[in-house]
Amino acid sequence: MASHRAWTSPGSLGVDAIWLSPFYPSPMADFGYDVADYCDVAPEYGTLADFDELLAQAHRRGIRVLVDFVPNHTSDRHPWFVASRSSREDPRRDWYVWRDPKPDGSPPNNWRSIFRAVGGAWTFDHPTGQYYLHSFLPQQPDLDWWNPEVRAAMHDVLRFWLDRGVDGFRIDVAHKMARDPELRDNPAELAQGDVAGIQRRDEDWPEVHVILREFRRLLDAYGDRMAVGEVGIYDPERLVRYFGEAQDELQLAFNFAFLVQPWRAVAFRKSVDRYEQLLPAGAWPTYTLSNHDNPRARSRYADGDDAGAVRRARVAAMLLLTLRGTPFLYYGEEIGQADGEVPADRVVDRDGRDPERTPMQWDAGPGAGFTSGDPWLPIGSEARAVNVAAQRDDPRSMLSLYRRLTWFRRRSVALREGSYRPVGRAPGVFAYLREAGTERLLVALNFGHAPAELRGGDHGLPRSGTLEISTDPDRGAGSVPLSSLELGPDEGVVIRL
Ligand code: NOJ
Repeated sequence: MASHRAWTSPGSLGVDAIWLSPFYPSPMADFGYDVADYCDVAPEYGTLADFDELLAQAHRRGIRVLVDFVPNHTSDRHPWFVASRSSREDPRRDWYVWRDPKPDGSPPNNWRSIFRAVGGAWTFDHPTGQYYLHSFLPQQPDLDWWNPEVRAAMHDVLRFWLDRGVDGFRIDVAHKMARDPELRDNPAELAQGDVAGIQRRDEDWPEVHVILREFRRLLDAYGDRMAVGEVGIYDPERLVRYFGEAQDELQLAFNFAFLVQPWRAVAFRKSVDRYEQLLPAGAWPTYTLSNHDNPRARSRYADGDDAGAVRRARVAAMLLLTLRGTPFLYYGEEIGQADGEVPADRVVDRDGRDPERTPMQWDAGPGAGFTSGDPWLPIGSEARAVNVAAQRDDPRSMLSLYRRLTWFRRRSVALREGSYRPVGRAPGVFAYLREAGTERLLVALNFGHAPAELRGGDHGLPRSGTLEISTDPDRGAGSVPLSSLELGPDEGVVIRL
């Protein structure tokens, strides 16, 4: 994350902040995203005192800590839902979304769970004779954010962690909390996914912006705290609304375009350019290459060619760490970890996300230095070769490239705060300038598997520049001619002008 706080020692990777996915008590039906108590630590992870210690140790190193806030749904074992389910008369009944069946007994509307394997978003509760809504698993009932008591209770959760000193939150499915209060069907056109210009009724309802403004006021009252929203909306026009008309909603909102678009220079350039054009003044992009819900970059760009996949993952690292905005790295990305292999008898996730969740590979020993116990997902088969210990002192490694990029970024005002300007349209190449004051950097990324050329003269670039970083460890340092900049296959460079 971009930070202007002075740091003492942000670890060798040079990160400013860490985001912890949910560590709260949970039956783990959705691996912590089914929260049974928002204000405690699951015993299998430790205690609140351990959390306080982690926070203090991170802060001592100048690293901020974000915790995961899961406001859309609780676990079905959360005491609020246990009470809500107990009877139609319970005071917590309307903390969740309960509705009568249609006259033919079918669910109240056509809404679907985000998890395909689940199907419909409603589960019938026999004892009380009504359906309840769940946008994910049946074990994750949706809270009803139209209810002011729910809002107040969840604000207390935010205060609980802010009072403990956390620096902010990653907000799970931040676009989902508000939905059509009349629970009308989604338009039939949306059966296969979003269609530009057609409003969904099960998420992204205008009231969500009121809810986010309330969060923001609460955060602002604490001073230097922030929230990054997981806004699972791929239409950038709708996504930018989450910053708020008066920049009074989310400080950051993930743009997930990179997770789904093909590895082609023109696709990346178009999505970055369009987002840059749409962002309101003062709003700040947030890109990422991987997370716990999507295949890892190294595997996504493999294309049946492993050596090429590693080169492409290096180019992707350079892209992520040189664009304008706040980059988020997923653990393991900094060593080029691939998705793990998960045999059928070890599958635990109903939505197919186990491969990207195998343990972090620290060393070549048993348990990959991650655990001396039995991990709930197998260790990746490459762990003996692809691990932190093996890469730490190797200047050619992925880890060394990531470190070079993160530390370069920390020192470069152009990369941290400068403008973004695309350059040229050489086939297969995405090139851009990052500029601030007197610092001018050219980033040129070859997305192709063949050498490519950027004719700098055609785009008003100076005759030469100085190579700062190449993804190719064999490229020599020093001056580089820009009238015709030759890029190797799958090579990215940062050049000082
Ligand atoms: C998004 C989280 O990233 C994902 O892992 C989870 O399953 C859903 N939200 C439900 O909380």
